[in-house]
Amino acid sequence: MTKITFVAASGERIETQASAGSTVMETAIMNAVPGIVAECGGACTCATCHVYIDPDWEAVVGGPSAMEEDMLDFAFDVKSSSRLSCQIKVKDNLDGLVVHVPSRQG
Ligand code: FES
Repeated sequence: MTKITFVAASGERIETQASAGSTVMETAIMNAVPGIVAECGGACTCATCHVYIDPDWEAVVGGPSAMEEDMLDFAFDVKSSSRLSCQIKVKDNLDGLVVHVPSRQG
């Protein structure tokens, strides 16, 4: 299992265990992380699974694909650390990942 910590807009930290092969969004939904809506179910067509990657993890996670970048245009308060969590596959090298949930989606 891969440990992923979600930091809600309120500052609450939610520590989760993610399965390899799932996505960061699926992990958030399974753990009822507040602020992750994921309307499209992971098809990269809604931008309501927007998160900010913690600065310590940006280089490991990497940037968005061109398709994801286009969808991010519809997200609220996009920053250089923004990603759509449904597009981040859980892998062993993400053990300890910290992501921040925006104050609202789209
Ligand atoms: Fe819709 Fe990620 S769940 S874009």
